[in-house]
Amino acid sequence: MNITFLLNGETVTLNAVAPAATLLDWLREDRGLTGTKEGCNEGDCGACTVMVTDARGARALNACILFLPQLHGKAVRTVEGIAGPDGTLHPVQSQMIAHHGSQCGFCTPGFVVSMATAHLNRARDFNDQLAGNLCRCTGYAPIVRAAEAAAEAPVPEWIAPTDGCEVAPDPAIPRTADALAAAFAAQPDATLVAGATDVGLWVTKGLRDLGPVIFLHGCDDLAAISEDAGALHVGAMVDMNRLRAAVGGRYPAYAELLRRYGSQQVRGAATLGGNIANGSPIGDNAPALIALGARLHLRQGDMARDIAIEDFFLDYGKQDLRRGEFVTGVTIPHREAGVQCYKVSKRFDQDISAVCGCFSVTVADGVVQDARIGFGGMAGVPKRAAAVEAALTGQPWTAATLRIAEPAFAQDFAPLSDMRASAGYRMAAARSMLWRCHAETTTAPDAEADTVHSVLQVRA
Ligand SMILES: Cc1cc2nc3c(=O)[nH]c(=O)nc-3n(C[C@H](O)[C@H](O)[C@H](O)COP(=O)(O)OP(=O)(O)OC[C@H]3O[C@@H](n4cnc5c(N)ncnc54)[C@H](O)[C@@H]3O)c2cc1C
Ligand code: FES
Ligand code: FES
Repeated sequence: MNITFLLNGETVTLNAVAPAATLLDWLREDRGLTGTKEGCNEGDCGACTVMVTDARGARALNACILFLPQLHGKAVRTVEGIAGPDGTLHPVQSQMIAHHGSQCGFCTPGFVVSMATAHLNRARDFNDQLAGNLCRCTGYAPIVRAAEAAAEAPVPEWIAPTDGCEVAPDPAIPRTADALAAAFAAQPDATLVAGATDVGLWVTKGLRDLGPVIFLHGCDDLAAISEDAGALHVGAMVDMNRLRAAVGGRYPAYAELLRRYGSQQVRGAATLGGNIANGSPIGDNAPALIALGARLHLRQGDMARDIAIEDFFLDYGKQDLRRGEFVTGVTIPHREAGVQCYKVSKRFDQDISAVCGCFSVTVADGVVQDARIGFGGMAGVPKRAAAVEAALTGQPWTAATLRIAEPAFAQDFAPLSDMRASAGYRMAAARSMLWRCHAETTTAPDAEADTVHSVLQVRA
């Protein structure tokens, strides 16, 4: 493949690029830009963070799981391009020195690039912005203090955002969903690459040869978000940061779930389409979308179809996805009841769910009119808790009903024990989530519920 992008302001054209060549390897081995470090090589530590800019703005991304063709037409800034051409330090670099934000220095380039990206975007939530950068020796307080101290400084002119650069078309990087449909129909065995937060690891950790590849990042029509009176429409190529912003107003608990999805770098790359299409039983979007009654849109050649999202997940590793078919987007109907989302993971930030439960319960006059409940981590697929929903529907939204409904979890789920949680823990967590949902959505006095809630609080 032939690709062109801006590297620290200079145009770079590469010919005959292997589709699965990572930016990190190229920077360090071919370009000699060794400021970008390799730590985990799987998106977890942030040592390899680079700034990538295009028409949608600047993002901090992990270079270790970013394939070179994903940069076609974009602008990349590495730590070597954060200071000015005459050596003038960026305000975040000066403040790192002033606040003693570095000791061994291994993590420092990654932190500096994340900080410079946050500074450019005028973001102030530094704990979230920097949660994807790990430091073993300095401790985070001086680094966050440095970011705060630099926040008001003007953006240096050499960091001015850019839309990227003009590029020649490449058949493996279609520009529209129509072109993607044609390319995939012609080559149905190709691997689709969206954000590469899964596929990147197949290469760096699984040492897999991907064979033919089709990249989706050029399809701007798959990256659109729109809203009408009835629903929110989200394209498959919308990343987690944009999705979080889009759902935040109507569904704050869903947005909070997404705040804990990976890190800033992972959220800037991972797409909604990839998170659904991979069929993971612990993907965080599926339970929320099941609870909200979302429809999934699929395309194969000229044929389009849409299905209820829960029907997409057939069995572990098996989705309702035909040969040459891909996800184009999701429609999330406006649901007045909103959604409550609970994620239990071993670590609060940047960790995959052990159990993720999402609840959308419509209550009128104290009676459950309609309940939609989606779970991840409780079965081989993301799954609707149909028996629990049936046990709640038409009943008073009270502790007595919850007690009657609780055994229905055993009809819906027979979870596995694995390194993330035991089956018994998963069941207990799921049942507790139902009680928590009740506690957060009712104001009616209920002595029994009050007792259970205080027990849950003591346990928490
Ligand atoms: C450090 C780290 C932390 C993570 N944390 C979380 C987390 O907290 N929660 C969570 O749910 N996940 C997490 N993940 C997993 C990962 O982010 C998701 O599975 C991700 O959404 C995949 O999306 P992607 O765009 O990166 O997909 P890719 O890696 O590009 O693709 C994934 C799969 O989907 C296919 N695919 C992609 N797009 C489409 C499409 N439009 N149509 C059909 N097939 C398609 C690909 O061919 C591939 O099989 C994490 C991953 C990493 C590396
Ligand atoms: S090397 Fe750890 S995130 Fe890239
Ligand atoms: S300064 Fe040593 S890892 Fe952060």
